[in-house]
Amino acid sequence: MTATELGLPAVRRAAPRDPARPADPRLVDSFGRVATDLRISLTDRCNLRCSYCMPAEGLDWMPRDEQLTDDELIRLITIAVRDLGVEELRFTGGEPLLRRGLEGLIAASAALEPRPDISLTTNGIGLARRAEALAAAGVNRLNVSMDTLQQERFATITRRDRLSDVLDGLAAARAAGLGPVKINSVLLRGVNDDEAVPLLRFALDHGYELRFIEQMPLDAQHGWERSEMITAGEVMEKLRESFALTPDPAERGGAPAERWLVDGGPAAVGVIASVTRPFCGACDRTRLTADGQVRSCLFARTETDLRAMLRGGSSDAEIADTWRHAMWGKLAGHGIDDPGFLQPDRPMSAIGG
Ligand code: 5AD
Ligand code: SF4
Repeated sequence: MTATELGLPAVRRAAPRDPARPADPRLVDSFGRVATDLRISLTDRCNLRCSYCMPAEGLDWMPRDEQLTDDELIRLITIAVRDLGVEELRFTGGEPLLRRGLEGLIAASAALEPRPDISLTTNGIGLARRAEALAAAGVNRLNVSMDTLQQERFATITRRDRLSDVLDGLAAARAAGLGPVKINSVLLRGVNDDEAVPLLRFALDHGYELRFIEQMPLDAQHGWERSEMITAGEVMEKLRESFALTPDPAERGGAPAERWLVDGGPAAVGVIASVTRPFCGACDRTRLTADGQVRSCLFARTETDLRAMLRGGSSDAEIADTWRHAMWGKLAGHGIDDPGFLQPDRPMSAIGG
């Protein structure tokens, strides 16, 4: 598949300057939200081929020279933390462990003042070998994607027979103190929707925190169907057959997961109802793609090109200001349930979770 077929945006628009924007140095938007959580996609490449994400043959990966270099990335992260009030960094992909120099990027981020909270979303492949170095570099928390506990199903869903690597990665992350290690699971109708209870039992037994994520229309193949999605409501129904779930009284803040205490706690399970109960009103995220585009939302249909500014000699102050204006224009919500909803051109693997 070519970049044109994929519909990657050919024309990148700079955010218009809105005189109504207040002189707030942070990433405020016109609905009163403040983005303090920066999600950084380090690469669009992945070593799995999850059916709800990518076609079997993979995608036409971003050329290396289009990706931000480590120095460019560190410059943008520094601007975000120092000038824009970003407090949390999450490195994602594709698969972020495939990015060479990852530990160096993390260490440079951890050296910033004020020290941001640093997390990583990974598919767990290769994590067993890397967990200690990641912790030493400064990763605070880790999310690992795992949709099934059955080896054959794992191979079907991800098109790679690597479940044991993921299980080893989880254990290594816990041993390295990267806890509480979270597991992200997407349930697919007729594929793994009988595993809600086994996945939760596994997580409880091993001290991981499980979160179910509703499948979103972000696959490269545009194959998402609303009726095929397992809703958060269905997940709760299945879990309640085996567990008592009570709302976690702790404040949710901008966190997308609704947390439920399992059998009175303290163990908990999260449900991320991105489609059926969107949390856009509390969103505190700003996103950066591997080629240096700011996205105000996973589902944004426009991007703001910071790479051109970096490579064109703009100052830190100019870049910060462009980022601020990009976020000011963030829309109220993603509108997945609206009849006119249009899936973004970039697939999830090129935006990051
Ligand atoms: N809908 C919901 N979650 C998705 N993920 C990848 N694609 C989708 C999708 N279309 C998940 C991955 C990973 C996290 C970053 O997002 O499984 O856990
Ligand atoms: Fe890779 Fe994550 Fe996409 Fe699976 S969902 S193919 S692990 S980027």
